[in-house]
Amino acid sequence: MNPASPQAIDAAIRALSAEIGLDPSAIGPGSIRQAVADRMAEAGIGDGSEYAELVGRSPDEREALVELVVVPESWFFRDRLPFVFLSEAVAGPFRSRTGVEPLRILSLPCAGGEEPYSIAITLCDAGVPADRFQIDAVDVSARQLERARRGVYRPVSFRGGDHSFLRRHFEPDGDGFAIVPPLRESIRWERGNILDPAIADRPPYDVVFCRNLLIYLTPEAKRAAMGAIGRLVAPGGWLVVGHAEPLLVDPSRFEPAGRPGAFAFRRRLEGALVSAIRPIPAAGRRLDSKPIGGNPPRSPASPGDSAPGLGPSSSPVRPVPEGIEPESESEITTLANRREWGPALERAGRLVRQRPNDAAAHVLLGSIAQAIGRLDEAEASFRRAGFLDPRCVEALLALAALAELRGDRTAAENYRRRAARFRAGEEIA
Ligand SMILES: C[S@@+](CC[C@H](N)C(=O)[O-])C[C@H]1O[C@@H](n2cnc3c(N)ncnc32)[C@H](O)[C@@H]1O
Repeated sequence: MNPASPQAIDAAIRALSAEIGLDPSAIGPGSIRQAVADRMAEAGIGDGSEYAELVGRSPDEREALVELVVVPESWFFRDRLPFVFLSEAVAGPFRSRTGVEPLRILSLPCAGGEEPYSIAITLCDAGVPADRFQIDAVDVSARQLERARRGVYRPVSFRGGDHSFLRRHFEPDGDGFAIVPPLRESIRWERGNILDPAIADRPPYDVVFCRNLLIYLTPEAKRAAMGAIGRLVAPGGWLVVGHAEPLLVDPSRFEPAGRPGAFAFRRRLEGALVSAIRPIPAAGRRLDSKPIGGNPPRSPASPGDSAPGLGPSSSPVRPVPEGIEPESESEITTLANRREWGPALERAGRLVRQRPNDAAAHVLLGSIAQAIGRLDEAEASFRRAGFLDPRCVEALLALAALAELRGDRTAAENYRRRAARFRAGEEIA
């Protein structure tokens, strides 16, 4: 006999939807009824109203209930193509880039670890050294995280055909397999809830795997989760969702990427980030025109803005040598607007070499670097632009957006204040 009363079940549903955003219809009424019955038996409670009161007031009780209702099903290389995408579109190009920060990847939710370990194996097999990537793995279930940390898996975690990775990265352990230590240590495990507003208070990631979570959430929780994901994926970075979730991805922030079946998206430029690309002068601006704002270059506004060996006194305007075609900002802008990032970046690099004193050229290079997620390079370009022309509002706003993405709200506010001051100054002038 199942003693869970409608009152206890209603209270549990309310608690679960507030706590983890669970839509009860996604897991079926029987599962919640059974979980409530189990919890009542465990707590020695026979009365539904007493359990309703307990689940309403006790965080520990809600946590215990969450452990019973979450769906932790996962397996290695689930859906396969997302990992092919990771290897081809992310790891391959990343490997050939030097001097960039390690690749940052988030697996949320990571369940018992099959997904983040599959990510680590993919990167490792693609030739990315372990010190060139960082994987953070987050789940709301303490029990699943415990299983993930242990790293021992039964055959049910290995489905599909190709298990050659087992030989390379696992060793036999009883009737299962244990992941080898170097891979186990490449992942940082963390308990976290996608609905916690603080979840996105961290630098954004190059890639976020958020698979098979959105389908279990109420419409309101889906919106909140998408908001968090939008902040967790770096501009130009990738989001990978589950096979039933592409329609839940916010198209105003993400566009489809990769082959069908990878369920991958790329984060679009948006809001403040677009502000960095919008000021790119329209076609026709002459290369020898004055810096943005028409002001002569000044000394740096603050020591942090200085760029060694670069500046008005150290870098005279260099005429483009005869026989070399001067770069065209308008053509580079057109390439960027068509998202032909490779040629746009290359030509913008040439532009700043031809026009090292032109703040606008550095803003253009910074905007393109920012669009493809090379945030450090973007920041260096915007700083250089701000050094050459401390009144360059576009550079200041872009620096504000980048500081905000890093979570540095004070710096962001300072840049914004300076931008507002110069904008106001321009208006007065
Ligand atoms: C079906 S598993 C998905 C695992 C893996 N991403 C995959 O696709 O194989 C769903 C996981 O979501 C976790 N989860 C449920 N609600 C959550 C929330 N609000 N925040 C974080 N994790 C949550 C559960 O604990 C469970 O481990």
